[in-house]
Amino acid sequence: SHEATLDRDSMTLSRHVLQQLKSFGPDAQDLSALMTRIALAGKLIARRLSRAGLVEDALGFTGRENVQGESVKKMDVYANDVFISAFKQSGLVCRLASEEMEEPFYIPENCPIGRYTLLYDPIDGSSNVDINLNVGSIFAIRQQKGNDEHQTGEDLLQPGREQIAAGYILYGPSTVLVYTIGTGVHAFTLDPSLGEFILSEENITIPNHGPVYSVNEGNFWQWDDSIRDYIRYVHRHEGYSARYSGALVGDFHRILTQGGVFLYPGTVKNPDGKLRLLYESAPLAFLAEQAGGRGTTGTQEILDVLPDRLHMRTPLVLGSTEDVALVESFIQDRF
Ligand code: AHG
Ligand code: MN
Ligand code: MN
Ligand code: MN
Repeated sequence: SHEATLDRDSMTLSRHVLQQLKSFGPDAQDLSALMTRIALAGKLIARRLSRAGLVEDALGFTGRENVQGESVKKMDVYANDVFISAFKQSGLVCRLASEEMEEPFYIPENCPIGRYTLLYDPIDGSSNVDINLNVGSIFAIRQQKGNDEHQTGEDLLQPGREQIAAGYILYGPSTVLVYTIGTGVHAFTLDPSLGEFILSEENITIPNHGPVYSVNEGNFWQWDDSIRDYIRYVHRHEGYSARYSGALVGDFHRILTQGGVFLYPGTVKNPDGKLRLLYESAPLAFLAEQAGGRGTTGTQEILDVLPDRLHMRTPLVLGSTEDVALVESFIQDRF
């Protein structure tokens, strides 16, 4: 019936957020407005990615290095600026903290009334941009604590349990936005003809076990022995498949839908691993827990880690409860 299709096409992101939050009162309006801004950023980034080979400032490097010590892609800068522009107009966010900016960015006209802070990874998996493979954006929204009059952003250094919203946009064959505000995990697919993200899956749950393990085996000899023992175990046992795209969002989306485990362990050179807590591991761990999965450093739940600095890194084991527990059992045998 066309009514069912019309209802489906009318379940936009902003309506869905309000529906989720009917018991949340006034915060519901704020969160709905914030998620609408996230959706706008996603649409602007998806549009540029879909024409990357044809427009300026989409492919290739800027020639600069970021605070992570990484070579910055033109798309990193464009996407970083998209979020700033989208949230400048929101009136709700005073500060944005991003992988690409050493310090939080303050929007004067939104401070100190801005009650929320956006933490984001504007383009996750930048190495995939020039080869037209999937990339993502990761976001987390937190309440602003106090009015940060000296612009230190100290209140950002709180555990991931303080997140009030988190999610990602996966720029793949279709553009999918996945989010949680603590009431389950829900996915929306961008309908470019409407310019709207339409609900495509509600209350996503991670299977307790899955066939996929996702890790960069190129680091095999850099890991702790316990991780090598886990990898030897999955190599020996039937039923495991290796899938690794070099972009966390795509690798996690596979695990969210099919089950399994993603690992980025510490290495000899980088004992804390590569992934950043505040705008990569914590948002995804929030999603994983909301979907019935887990995110751990290997010895501590990701959402309990107290960051000591904005760009803090942690080892990450993320996905199905049984698979995460199996990795932990190898790590714990170690100590
Ligand atoms: P980013 O592009 O935002 O810097 O993140 C890249 C991250 C993550 O997306 C991916 O899982 C990981 O880097 C891949 O790292 P390796 O190339 O070392 O495996
Ligand atoms: Mn990067
Ligand atoms: Mn990233
Ligand atoms: Mn990034």
